[in-house]
Amino acid sequence: MRKIGILAFLFTFLTTSVIADGHNNEVNVFNARHYKADAELYGKFTNQTGIKVKLINGKSGALEKRILEEGADATADLYITADAGRCGAMDKKGALQGGLTSAAIKAAVPKSFRTNKWVGIAKRARIIYYSPERVTGAELSGMTYEGLADPKWKGRLVIRKSSNIYNKSLVASLIKNNGKAATAEWAKGVVANMARTPEGNDRAQIMAVAAGEADIAVANTYYLALMLSGKKGVEQQEAAKKVKAFFPNQNDRGTHMNVSCAALVKGAPNKSNAVKLVEFLLTPESQEHFTNNTFEFPMIDGVSPSPLVVNNLGLDFKQDMKTKLASYGKNQAAAVEVMTAAGWK
Ligand SMILES: [Fe+2]
Repeated sequence: MRKIGILAFLFTFLTTSVIADGHNNEVNVFNARHYKADAELYGKFTNQTGIKVKLINGKSGALEKRILEEGADATADLYITADAGRCGAMDKKGALQGGLTSAAIKAAVPKSFRTNKWVGIAKRARIIYYSPERVTGAELSGMTYEGLADPKWKGRLVIRKSSNIYNKSLVASLIKNNGKAATAEWAKGVVANMARTPEGNDRAQIMAVAAGEADIAVANTYYLALMLSGKKGVEQQEAAKKVKAFFPNQNDRGTHMNVSCAALVKGAPNKSNAVKLVEFLLTPESQEHFTNNTFEFPMIDGVSPSPLVVNNLGLDFKQDMKTKLASYGKNQAAAVEVMTAAGWK
């Protein structure tokens, strides 16, 4: 009887193992960015590893809501989205877990661009675009984010709404560096300088400068390359040719950086496969895919950005490597507070 008991136990154990292995041979990605281009990349991962990638595409808000609702019954392993502020906010809500700490990840991603729960997979900078006809080199000399509040820009600045995640993260970084009180004053100065009530996306800000509605705009780096590529039509391509890029804070901490991030969801059913996928996304092959399809900067050294980025934005700028991107999520509520108090729509 005892033997049968042991055999029965072994049988159950082996069956469970097989089922568990089968179950583990996949990874579920809640993906909020660049559905089409990134899908090809996940296909390559499956070919190399045999791990099936189940992609659940959606807008960041909807995917975050689902992750929070699922809680301990998580179906998501990884949440991939644009902006460290989004990953940081999910961490603050308790939706993530530690585990993105492998040697490969640590070697690929500088410390300030990751935590143990989420890591940057591609970089972008939030910079100033200007009209070379109406803005002189002297005016821009030594220009900083702080300088956007300078009265000399009165009626000349466009930037999108305060509800935009990129702005929340930029302002959160200013709070981290300069404090909340100083940033509250700064936000009032920025609002006073606006050429119009904020409207439209980042590309719309560049369009406004090209159309002469403003002299300077704040927008992310990859949008200029996207517009120049012609993928957004001739009108935007022509507009992009009329502006120049300027990288702020070159004489102090460097230009404000952000990332597309991959976050490890708490309760992830395939945690080790999720780690493997993040490691794959940080290989030169994947990084080249990102830079060519999204015009972001690579997260790792040794990979060149798209020629459109190299030729029109340049590479030789000082990145802010000191301000931890985790501060964007931590200071997000304070950032919204100071922008709202300043009347930033
Ligand atoms: Fe974007």
